[in-house]
Amino acid sequence: MKPVEKKIINRNSFSKEDLYRILANKSQVGVYIMQDKRFKFVNPHILDYTGYSESDIKALDPSCIIYPPDRRMTRKYAVQMLKEQRFSPYEFRIITSDGRTKWIMETITSISFQGQRAILGNSLDITEQKEGRKRLEELEALESSILDAIPQAVVGLQNRYINFANNAVRDIFGWNREELIGKHVSIFYHTKEASRNIGDLFYSTLESQRTFITEFPCIRKDGKEILCRMKASRIGEKLRERRIVVTYEDITEKKKAEEELERSHEELRNLSAHLQSVREKESTRIARRIHDELGQSLTALKMDLSWLESRLPKKLEILKGKAKKMASLVDTTIESVHRISTELRPILLDDLGLLAAIEWQAEEFENRSGIPCDVTFKCNDISIDKEIATALFRIFQETLTNIARHAGADRISVTLRKTEKDLVMEVADNGQGITHEQIEDPRSFGIMGMRERASLLGGTVYLTGEHLKGTRVTVIIPVPEGEKDDSNSCRR
Ligand SMILES: Nc1ncnc2c1ncn2[C@@H]1O[C@H](COP(=O)(O)OP(=O)(O)OP(=O)(O)O)[C@@H](O)[C@H]1O
Ligand SMILES: [Mg+2]
Repeated sequence: MKPVEKKIINRNSFSKEDLYRILANKSQVGVYIMQDKRFKFVNPHILDYTGYSESDIKALDPSCIIYPPDRRMTRKYAVQMLKEQRFSPYEFRIITSDGRTKWIMETITSISFQGQRAILGNSLDITEQKEGRKRLEELEALESSILDAIPQAVVGLQNRYINFANNAVRDIFGWNREELIGKHVSIFYHTKEASRNIGDLFYSTLESQRTFITEFPCIRKDGKEILCRMKASRIGEKLRERRIVVTYEDITEKKKAEEELERSHEELRNLSAHLQSVREKESTRIARRIHDELGQSLTALKMDLSWLESRLPKKLEILKGKAKKMASLVDTTIESVHRISTELRPILLDDLGLLAAIEWQAEEFENRSGIPCDVTFKCNDISIDKEIATALFRIFQETLTNIARHAGADRISVTLRKTEKDLVMEVADNGQGITHEQIEDPRSFGIMGMRERASLLGGTVYLTGEHLKGTRVTVIIPVPEGEKDDSNSCRR
């Protein structure tokens, strides 16, 4: 073939047959002539896509190359085309020489070749396009099933007009997806202005970042208002074509439930605060009455007994002895009354203030447990509000009880200081150290109570523990504005 081409090109004139041959051989389309169930001519393109040599393919029955399930259909279309009943190309699969399947698109015509009827075929290898299309269809199917599996409404926007929506738009907004295509996105909002505002926010934010999340009130087809959590992402690296995707999640019920939960927490907090203050008031009242009324009566009784004993004649030894015993019993009763009333509510706290009460409690603790308690104050007593004083005192009591019960410490240091905005109490022991699990254990009611007391006053309690080094409890309570402190420092 090559010498022929050369000859033709060199001479710059060629026969009709040579011209057809060149055209067929140079064609990017497969060209063949078939006669008596054999290929009489195949161009190089056919050899390329079938993988056969010219001699091999010419020796084959052409229908053997067709993928068996496609043979009947291919024959049918070929016959229709030859009878001029079909004009559009048909597609079928072939099996290449190395066993691969390829897609071919073909047209045929009836011709006369070397004086006999023959078929002239034009074919095109469309495997790549076919596979590309198939991959695309698969991707599209995957994309639409993913989008339909998403419970949120997913909406594609170009310059604020909807060009895509998944099926969930019906659940969220009550619109069918088909109804939305081509509509302005303001259909989801109360007013055009609201739509403009949220749109401006999205487009301006997505200039500099890929995604943006916000909550915004929307409106359903039936006019019902819903609160949506919206996530917008831009399509592509830049926002040049103003194409974005927005997902809408209806969080109306979730929000309501959250608010309900928050409200019931608030109610519980208020109830707890109320109960604590009632308990505190009750304790104070009982402590006062025990202290004042019982204390006074007992003191009077003791005085009467002393008077009686001094007036009893010497010879009534037994009676005198009895009166003495009664007086000493009254003494221990007075002590018990004092202790009980103090445990209920140290009158010191009301009468002398927090610092005195802490000092007294620390001393009591030291006497009872034998653990030295070092107390340092860096604040002025007068400035401490009564509620704060009560809370700090009760937290201090619980901390000391915990140290006695759990720490195994032999030293405690207590500091109370005033910072610019807060009153800070720190109690540190050198015991075994509280663990993180113990701090966070929902059954640690003592710790929970401390936290609750502090949080009712807007404060916090931090606990830290280090194994065998000790535990530190830090209580921070904000001090209401206007309360000035001269930061006196006093040490016990
Ligand atoms: N100073 C401390 N040193 C070591 N462990 C501590 C200390 N304080 C508390 N703990 C640990 O933290 C746990 C929880 O303390 P919390 O005060 O909440 O409960 P409790 O003292 O066991 O019981 P209660 O409800 O009577 O107070 C304790 O059981 C203890 O294991
Ligand atoms: Mg406790």
